[in-house]
Amino acid sequence: MAITFNEEKKIFKLDTRDSTYAILIYRENYLVHLYYGAKLPDDNLTGLMYRGRFDSLSPYNPKVEDPLFSPDINPMEYSTNGAGDFRISALSVRGEAGNTVTDIRYVSHRIFSGKPGLSGLPAAFASEEEAQTLEVETVDAVTGVKVFLLYTVFEDLGVMTRSVRVENGGKSPVELTRVYSACVDLPRMDYDMVHLYGRWNKENSLNRHPLMHGIQSIRSKRGMTGANHNPFVALAAPGCTEETGEAFGFHLVYSGNFAIDIECDTREFSRLLIGINPEDFRWRLEPGEVFTSPEAVMVYSSQGLGGMSRTLHKFYPAHLMRSEWAHKKRPLLINSWEAAYFDFDDDKLVEFAQKAKELGIEMLVMDDGWFGNRCDDHRALGDWYVNEKKLKGGLSNLIQRVNDLGIKFGIWYEPEMINPDSDLYRAHPDWAIRAPGREHSISRYQCVLDMTRKEVRDNIFEQMYKVISQNHIDYIKWDCNRHITEAASAALPPERQGEFFHRYVLGVYDLMDRITTAFPHILLENCSSGGGRFDPGMLYYSPQIWASDNTDPIERLSIQFGASLCYPVSAMGAHVSASPRTGLKTKGAVAMCGTFGYELDPRKMTEEEKDQVRGQAADYHRYYDLIRKGDFYRLVSPAENSFHCEWEFVSEDQSEVLFTSVIMRQPEHNFYIQRLRGLDPDRYYRDEDTGEVYSGALLMNAGINLSGDGWPREDGDSLTKHFVAV
Ligand code: GLA
Repeated sequence: MAITFNEEKKIFKLDTRDSTYAILIYRENYLVHLYYGAKLPDDNLTGLMYRGRFDSLSPYNPKVEDPLFSPDINPMEYSTNGAGDFRISALSVRGEAGNTVTDIRYVSHRIFSGKPGLSGLPAAFASEEEAQTLEVETVDAVTGVKVFLLYTVFEDLGVMTRSVRVENGGKSPVELTRVYSACVDLPRMDYDMVHLYGRWNKENSLNRHPLMHGIQSIRSKRGMTGANHNPFVALAAPGCTEETGEAFGFHLVYSGNFAIDIECDTREFSRLLIGINPEDFRWRLEPGEVFTSPEAVMVYSSQGLGGMSRTLHKFYPAHLMRSEWAHKKRPLLINSWEAAYFDFDDDKLVEFAQKAKELGIEMLVMDDGWFGNRCDDHRALGDWYVNEKKLKGGLSNLIQRVNDLGIKFGIWYEPEMINPDSDLYRAHPDWAIRAPGREHSISRYQCVLDMTRKEVRDNIFEQMYKVISQNHIDYIKWDCNRHITEAASAALPPERQGEFFHRYVLGVYDLMDRITTAFPHILLENCSSGGGRFDPGMLYYSPQIWASDNTDPIERLSIQFGASLCYPVSAMGAHVSASPRTGLKTKGAVAMCGTFGYELDPRKMTEEEKDQVRGQAADYHRYYDLIRKGDFYRLVSPAENSFHCEWEFVSEDQSEVLFTSVIMRQPEHNFYIQRLRGLDPDRYYRDEDTGEVYSGALLMNAGINLSGDGWPREDGDSLTKHFVAV
């Protein structure tokens, strides 16, 4: 059993393959957090609740009759506001009396097989055999608010998910001012906080720094997750490296304003909260109404950050990406954006498809520019009807011509956006988000549609449905190229304006759900000016997300390495483009560490380049399973080394290895040995290029000598090696 309850000791234990999480129901029904870390066989954990004597400034509840218990000191399972715990609180409820004192106590629990979905929200899923769930019911006696804490344990994968459901069981309305998805109190603060930050064109830079006393956090208030911070934090224990030591990963399955806050107190404990950003958040609950938080994913690794990443790489395709394309082979695509921008017509696209066919490419994606009067990025978002001046003979005709070549067809949408210069805006100016009395800011010449409103979503759904249902479309790229300002909805009363941002996200999820349910066989790829909304919430609907508008292969190394901290490579949209740095070989090698595709004008290639692309297309098929299903090892990260970057995929049965090395710039000397990882030391592996055979032990302990003949030496050069067990 992954989840057990010890009646006598009143302890819940949630065990995965390699971790234990424990909660105590203490006197007066306080829920106390006991432990999260490496797996423990014991039940005798009560002593873990104590964290030293407290002084006169720490409040306590006399009914508890324990001189060592104060909510200010002890590790609390789900911290609440204003009732003795002065650290950051996960929950704060404003009751009828107007104050925000909140104090939840245990009422009951149930343990069951499987995992429930979350109403209106993306969430991990599992069969009854794959997971077990604990639901703990608590109540705030004064407001009558019931708080259900949900924990699902994926025993075989070392993962837990958590979420919170708040139900107004009282007689008057309440206002939630903060509801985090999870709270974790750890008994030390000597961790490094590891997270990903960035901007447009430079997403996912890795940041690792020690925790400090006080509160540190990463947040978004952009309405979307944004490129500035990914909703992920790892805490790396002292000595944690890429492959050794303890790391905890915390990831939020959410695509809007998020917060991951960590408070280190004077006793050097750390409390981590993960959930919806409380800034600009208020949620009114009438009696009987329910609020559901997004889901947090937690992973514990005793094998460093690499082990943590590999667990998430396995978890997301198996338990979060609900698309059939999570497991189906994806067609090798070419996208029109960097090849043509807005300058295309039906004949040019058919030419692209013809040339692509000769290269072994399987799908053409028509990017931005096919609808309304969209001749540039100033107009027409919202007008999702085919521009027949560009696509003469209509879309069906174009798709037929492309399909006749044996090439599949994909299309671009930006469903949440509206240009002031559009028919939709002229008909419904109030559908663009704006606060009363204020002009709305413009970003990329566009505004955001009020997705909190059903009639807006219905309109966009109907427009999309018409085009998609009447045409043979295999793929959709769902873009989102600006963030939300002057946030308010004309459809919400003043006392509910604090609900706007979360309702926006729920609206987007609703529209994505309707499109993916209506067209379950379409491969959906998300995008937000590159990786501006690259989060697990989006992965639920789309198994791949365009990682960055930056297609320079050297820049892509840090973007994709960063993303691999918490996302599988199968989720990272990566294309070979005409960017000037490096030759096709390195562009191919880097894009192969992602979904792989092309984004260039296939008519402008030399014969030699075409041969190279045909070779890459063959490699795409040859290594598809190894890359998608194998274990990914970051061998040398561009964040730690500015000269070269190396990585490797190892098949699950350890019979195959694909190793890639890229020279970013010249090192001081050119002698270099790289040790491989994850092989079977007792097996022998043949280098498929040279025929040389080496033991796994040699490849891992001595390594391969990158100074030998045939190894890359020039800036931007690269080499990929395939080893197969003999
Ligand atoms: C965004 C995307 C690009 C492309 C353009 C089209 O910038 O990231 O890939 O689709 O929009 O306008």
